[in-house]
Amino acid sequence: MNLHVTGTQAAADGFVCRATDSLWTAIERALDNGFGLVFVTGGDGEALGRLTLGDLRQALREGAHLGNASLSGIVRPGSLDDADSPVAPVLDARRRIVGIEKRPGAAFLPVAEPDLSHAELRNLMDAFLSTWISSTGDYITRFETSFAARTGMSHGVATSNGTVSLHLALAALGIGPGDEVIVPDLTFAASANVVIHLGATPVLVDGDPLTWCVSPEAIERAITPRTRAVMPVHVFGRPAPMTEIRDLALRHGLFVIEDCAEAHGASYDGQPVGSFSDVASFSFFANKIVTTGEGGICVTNDADLARRMRMLRDHGMRPERRYWHEEAGYNFRMTNLQASIGCAQLDRMDAFLNMRRKVHEGYEAALGHLPGIAFPPPMPSRHAPVTWFSCALVPAEARPRLIEACRQANIDLRPFFHGLSSMPAYRRYARKCPESARLSACGINLPTSRKVDAQTTARIAEIFASVLTGGGG
Ligand SMILES: Cc1ncc(COP(=O)(O)O)c(C=O)c1O
Repeated sequence: MNLHVTGTQAAADGFVCRATDSLWTAIERALDNGFGLVFVTGGDGEALGRLTLGDLRQALREGAHLGNASLSGIVRPGSLDDADSPVAPVLDARRRIVGIEKRPGAAFLPVAEPDLSHAELRNLMDAFLSTWISSTGDYITRFETSFAARTGMSHGVATSNGTVSLHLALAALGIGPGDEVIVPDLTFAASANVVIHLGATPVLVDGDPLTWCVSPEAIERAITPRTRAVMPVHVFGRPAPMTEIRDLALRHGLFVIEDCAEAHGASYDGQPVGSFSDVASFSFFANKIVTTGEGGICVTNDADLARRMRMLRDHGMRPERRYWHEEAGYNFRMTNLQASIGCAQLDRMDAFLNMRRKVHEGYEAALGHLPGIAFPPPMPSRHAPVTWFSCALVPAEARPRLIEACRQANIDLRPFFHGLSSMPAYRRYARKCPESARLSACGINLPTSRKVDAQTTARIAEIFASVLTGGGG
């Protein structure tokens, strides 16, 4: 509650419910404003209190009906003053809400948050009420078709996560013992794990200093007579030079499996990532640009391969002959519930990309002048990156202090992945990867969500400045 506005003030629209509104209205509004709460007003417009999604969930658990016109019965007296609220109402002399003040630091700011609106909730309820809650249902088909189309591909095969989609792609291409697959050293471990689980060997390749992805030259140097496939990863939303990688793979008779887990919407040479390879895989984990909670998809233009992936995804069972297994397959299926969330997310994908780009630009403006802080190098014009996590490079020795100082201020920062070669699980495959080691030592992921505004970036800049100039942390 604030009569004297100190922070960023915004319009109260979307944050206010009347005491006579239903629980459902409050839930939708709390989702749509992105802060997970609403302020409740009485008959004269006076502020009565605050309701968080946690309060609304508790009311449901205690038996309240979604359609009940009774927010007044739920709202706690005094809740307007809660110090841990990320937003507070600005009140006039008659306690009417005239605006909203955002208060960065009041509540924990995670590095990533799923952006879930009333649209995802309505789809999810629809899927639930249809009773098609397993892996058959309208949303699955719609999600597969829409996602493949968005990537410019003919077939989409949705899976339970972005690790098994990589696994499925490699398995369908027949990768197995004795085969080598070229994988970047700087990636999330899943990219290499699936190769190992199929009995093949990941050949770890260093990243390029400009793109951070594997370069065609580095791939070419790693090719041996046993190489069967290459798995470029568009790390942190930065697209690898796919035209050249595809041409190189063609010349050497190699499969290409693009790992697009972190790069929904990125493109190279005007073509979306995921459209350059035999199979491309995406993840829809909750920290990804588009999420289904857990989830993944394989996209391809090859109808036979799509058929084979569908069969392997479903225990290796022939679709037209129930319980007849051509080979030992897997259960890698996505549920209709997951897909229902995904359909709503896909409709909002352009807005997500826009929001993420603006958040990253905000960090560049706020932190760019600080000593020792750098941002990912701008990519040549053929690469069109997206922001997954906003990334910055900081002095390696200062990174733990920066992370700790932000943690003290309720702000979550994450270090980059460790280079795979540096970890015990991949010792057998380790190679010298100096670029990956450098990035891994200096890189941080900054909170990237619609909660991040100019006030947040200014606050982080203040903390960074204090740590980097020896004043704190
Ligand atoms: C590059 C990369 N590949 C694969 C995955 C695995 O995806 P999932 O978490 O959906 O299994 C991730 C997810 O974090 C990733 O970042």
